[in-house]
Amino acid sequence: MSILNKPLTEKEAEMGRDSVASLNQEIVKRCTDLSGIQIIAWAGDLHLHPPEGYPFPFSGFGGIYEHIDCSRQYMLCLHEISALTKKPELIVLGGDITEMGREEEWGEFSSIMNTGICEIPTLPVMGNHEHLQLPEKERMKELWSEIRCPGWPDLDNPDEFFYSVIRGGIKHIVLDTVKLPDIVMSDRQKEFLSAELKEDNLPVLIYQHAHIMPSGNWTDGALYLDKDMIRLIDECPNVMGVFSGHTHKPSLWKYRNKLYGTFPAVAYSIGTCTGWGGIILDDKGIKGVFYKELFGESYDDCIGPRYQEGKYVFMKPKSFEKSPLLNPFFWYRNPNPRKRR
Ligand SMILES: [Fe+2]
Repeated sequence: MSILNKPLTEKEAEMGRDSVASLNQEIVKRCTDLSGIQIIAWAGDLHLHPPEGYPFPFSGFGGIYEHIDCSRQYMLCLHEISALTKKPELIVLGGDITEMGREEEWGEFSSIMNTGICEIPTLPVMGNHEHLQLPEKERMKELWSEIRCPGWPDLDNPDEFFYSVIRGGIKHIVLDTVKLPDIVMSDRQKEFLSAELKEDNLPVLIYQHAHIMPSGNWTDGALYLDKDMIRLIDECPNVMGVFSGHTHKPSLWKYRNKLYGTFPAVAYSIGTCTGWGGIILDDKGIKGVFYKELFGESYDDCIGPRYQEGKYVFMKPKSFEKSPLLNPFFWYRNPNPRKRR
């Protein structure tokens, strides 16, 4: 089963939209009054590439694209998100939007956005695949003006792109988990985060590509751990949660009154399913976090081609403070086990 060079048909798009029906029913069951909630959708790890392939030999991870057309998967994802009865406030594009940050890949992204499949505003997050030092990096600012979507901020620094926006009474902070030479998070970005968390008194959601808590696959070997960043987030009572991609696998932890989650990838999974995610909020905070499998043919890096029913899962958070995976060199753990939450 290969889906390369197989554009999404109208029938498949319709089946994808139909597969959202049971999720819509579940949201109504959990929330009753849809006017009292908002949903932040997550679509990350798109890994867009030219559907016709690259005009040069591409080995290693590139081999995966012999099996999967990432444009098709992203379009299916947009069709599915647009089928939510409760229209999301935003779609967070959680990083690795492109495979290498190449111009034709951004062009592919732009042409998909221009199809009008989904008119929900987006927030871009930079991933490690956007930070490859390719010739395009030199002209990224110029390219940005060609591909940016409505509401996107200016790209002040392509090497480290972080910003915040306020939407629906929530502050959304987008961080950049690029690892600069010899440091984890730069002082400049930490100063920004510190100032943003002190300013206003709004509930906060933080989005960053690389994850900071384990998800259960090989990507945990490169957790983005910066002690100051962890402390700043932990000490700010307004922060409701931190959400990431990079793992190509969903996970959810609870740690000292905040949620820390990762969402599946749109392009291909690493040990689970492909899909997109959602954070449901009401006036008390995060009411639920779910992910939705993409419907139909998909690809997993471990087992290869797979077929997905398109089911949804509301994730149950596990206690990180009680987990043996908590690294006490970075995370506080209450010395009294009975007080760990
Ligand atoms: Fe990725």
